[in-house]
Amino acid sequence: MEQRTAYWRVDPIKPDPRIMARAGLILRQGGLVAFPTETVYGLGANALDGLAVARIFEVKGRPQDNPLIVHVADRETACRLVCRVPAGAGKLMDAFWPGPLTLVLPAAPVVPRQVTAGLDSVGIRMPDHQVALALIAAAGVPVAAPSANLSGRPSPTTAGHVLQDLNGRIEVVLDAGPAGVGLESTVLDLTGDVPVILRPGGITREELEKVIGEVRADPGVDGRPGGEFRPRSPGMKYRHYAPRVPLVLVEGEPERVAARLKELAGIYRSRGLRVGVLATAETAGEYNGSRVVVAGPRQDPAAIASRLFAALRQLDELGVDVILAEGIEPRGLGLAVMNRLRRAAGNRIERV
Ligand code: TXA
Ligand code: MG
Repeated sequence: MEQRTAYWRVDPIKPDPRIMARAGLILRQGGLVAFPTETVYGLGANALDGLAVARIFEVKGRPQDNPLIVHVADRETACRLVCRVPAGAGKLMDAFWPGPLTLVLPAAPVVPRQVTAGLDSVGIRMPDHQVALALIAAAGVPVAAPSANLSGRPSPTTAGHVLQDLNGRIEVVLDAGPAGVGLESTVLDLTGDVPVILRPGGITREELEKVIGEVRADPGVDGRPGGEFRPRSPGMKYRHYAPRVPLVLVEGEPERVAARLKELAGIYRSRGLRVGVLATAETAGEYNGSRVVVAGPRQDPAAIASRLFAALRQLDELGVDVILAEGIEPRGLGLAVMNRLRRAAGNRIERV
């Protein structure tokens, strides 16, 4: 019999310790708790309990070869999960923890293979959110957590999104309001000679290089499909972030993008299709006759990042047949935005 998911509201700054203690106990007993972080909502399980972690894969429909990030509330725990702390890791923790940076480090034997998906490395981060930190502390164990969405869907930035995807499949969702950054953490691999960004996210390459010097970007970070490239971050090979209907992404100079989107909207409408447009604020007024959702101003990629996943879900709910999306400049946080949009588009990407 399906159980209902408990819904507990918590204060984002000062969560009630009694609620956190109950949620922590559920984790310790092998249950699943969805919780807010500064990036997106996560679906947590006790990272040291292989069976609990296996349930995460089950409820999300997540491919078995895609490893999970372990969330910690203190550095000592991070160090216990790692067999060797590479040069640079300490500096990065000083600079960016708590915050949206996941470090991939050589895993110690205590980390179950369900977490690492059989790799010899483990991704670890300390989230910058009082509820997440209080939950991990109350659980008394490190917490493995992917984004709390069904596999393939846009990541959840509110508790409502979590329930849309996982209601009845998990024990609890903690609601502390919308997540701030809106895109997932940057995943940085520190197991080789030079640090490599496996997934662009809340911390940009420029910010990382200021702290540790040269950082490479895995060829997959731009989010374009195909090619010879085999991603080192298993999660990067799957279609992801996708709305239910096809999304066509148009990239290039803003005016040409708007002109091409208008043209495409006309073509689709003439075939009787209902068109949704994911637009930047600057050009949102151009699309008469389409349902328009504004992601944010082109000048402010952070604002677009924080709205992006909610906007994709909103477009789904409008009941359109096709979504046309404006690309933005893939620089700074814009690279993370474009990585998600390109992966949502799959092969439907046009350059103008
Ligand atoms: O912001 C975030 O990172 C959110 C919140 C909840 O913390 N979590 C998140 O988890 O986005 P998930 O599972 O949706 O994405 C984790 C990504 C995947 O692309 C996965 O392949 C990669 O991190 N990853 C995890 N461990 C790895 C490892 N040992 N080596 C390479 N990639 C790894
Ligand atoms: Mg995810």
